[in-house]
Amino acid sequence: MRAVDTAARRDCPPKPLFGLDPEAVAEISMTLTVILADMFALYVKTKNFHWHMSGSHFRDYHLLLDEQSAQILATIDPIAERARKIGGTTLRSIGQIACLQRLPDNDAEFVSPAAMLTELRNDNKWLTAYMREAHALCDEHSDVATTSLLEVWIDEGERRTWFLSEVIEHQTTEPNTGTRAKNMAHLAKKPKAAKGRRKDSPSPLRSTDREHIDDLLDDALQGTFPASDPVAIRGD
Ligand SMILES: [Fe+2]
Repeated sequence: MRAVDTAARRDCPPKPLFGLDPEAVAEISMTLTVILADMFALYVKTKNFHWHMSGSHFRDYHLLLDEQSAQILATIDPIAERARKIGGTTLRSIGQIACLQRLPDNDAEFVSPAAMLTELRNDNKWLTAYMREAHALCDEHSDVATTSLLEVWIDEGERRTWFLSEVIEHQTTEPNTGTRAKNMAHLAKKPKAAKGRRKDSPSPLRSTDREHIDDLLDDALQGTFPASDPVAIRGD
């Protein structure tokens, strides 16, 4: 390569940045932001169950959930920074997390160990499914770096699901079967809207996650996305 070509390339970098067009940046960063909200929700729930674990297997389950919560927490910063790195924006508040999360909170006074493990197993399965959809979207836009990161997080989600599934399958019957049966029936349903979600905010239970992301994206592009305005997000 001639010296003049090198100088010209140095002074005029390729555009758009990272080869992603603005539409792709908006779509991918919104998808990552919603996954980030789910990660925060799952992190808090895993910690909640870590803290409120009970029963004869307390130590094993307590430590397992601590390990899993640490792994989830470690993904949070890279997800947010990836959204920023490609030129998008990401979460700004707890209120925004509550508005965007698809994985439900669990504020129950008591949850049996079996119900805790089953709920976390299901949440991790959902999260993995959401990340697979995000992977397909990034692949569509040739965003190889986000695709590569998602592959690691999908593998971690599948590992958490595997561990929880093994424990659930081989655990001994605990007392409190009434409470457990109630919780298991609740868990058989799809994830519910998060408590405190704004009434007119986009529903997390659209027929597909992609539709949900598309709706959020439309709102964001039209300037109606609730962003981090706590007054707008708070329920009536
Ligand atoms: Fe702890």
